[in-house]
Amino acid sequence: MGKLFGLIGHPVSHSMSPSMHNDAFRNLDVDHHYQAFDVKEEDLEAAISGIRALGIKGFNVTIPHKVNVMKFLDEVEEEAKLIGAVNTVVNKDGKLIGYNTDGEGYLQSLLKVTGQELQQMKTLIIGAGGAARAVFTVLSKYGVSELDIANRTNEKAAILASECNCGQADVEVLSIEEAGERLNEYDLIINTTSVGMSPHTDHLPIHLKNLKKAAVVSDLIYNPLKTKLLLEAEGKGATILNGVGMFVEQGALAFEKWTGVAPDRHEMENIVLKQLGGF
Ligand code: ATR
Repeated sequence: MGKLFGLIGHPVSHSMSPSMHNDAFRNLDVDHHYQAFDVKEEDLEAAISGIRALGIKGFNVTIPHKVNVMKFLDEVEEEAKLIGAVNTVVNKDGKLIGYNTDGEGYLQSLLKVTGQELQQMKTLIIGAGGAARAVFTVLSKYGVSELDIANRTNEKAAILASECNCGQADVEVLSIEEAGERLNEYDLIINTTSVGMSPHTDHLPIHLKNLKKAAVVSDLIYNPLKTKLLLEAEGKGATILNGVGMFVEQGALAFEKWTGVAPDRHEMENIVLKQLGGF
């Protein structure tokens, strides 16, 4: 019998996850189905009870439930605890176990661009929200030795640095302005904020006038596929990376946890790019 998987969030109507996972199920020739459920904040606890009662085998969690869902789960894996958020849940014989595949998904997409050199790349993370926590945690754990953070709200960046530095990276917390002035120190710059996301595509999270030509500039945003940050960085000769790879990888890693099978990432990426109008 086919099994049911899903996504809980609010809103979820534009999510690309259902088509990505349902296509992967079809390719495996199994009768499983992935369904997006629009769950308001006040209904989260009831939704999790419903998931247990219906025997839904696994689900993704998105905004605004990634933090609050943790209190309704039976177990949360170590990395998700460090990040402080869960995006993937596995229903193992009635026990709900929470994971975070966002960080690992990002790391896998980044390594395709940087290779093993990543550890030696002096890195600047812009932002200090949930996405920044996931990125910081995995990069610190991977062994990136110099990992700085710039955020509009300084205190949030300082808390992130003190809570997520599991790999003992050398960390500096900077203002956005200071980081912009010192941008030529960085080999890798990662925007984790929503600045530049559609419809505000003319906004920049940081000025690039001091960007090193050999830098890698990465934006977690995938709509548009090339943000103003990436367009300007490309114009200055930098290597760029958008958020499509992270989105596909976090989904593929969740799929592996649910089914034990590695999906075709290339096929998943094609589906996402088609929805984003990238063809
Ligand atoms: P996510 O889970 O996507 O990371 P979040 O937890 O709400 O979302 O975090 C959003 C991040 O983007 C924060 O770092 C936020 O800065 P503050 O900590 O100062 O709020 C940053 N951000 C959002 N809008 C911004 C803007 N217009 N200018 C600068 N930073 C912004």
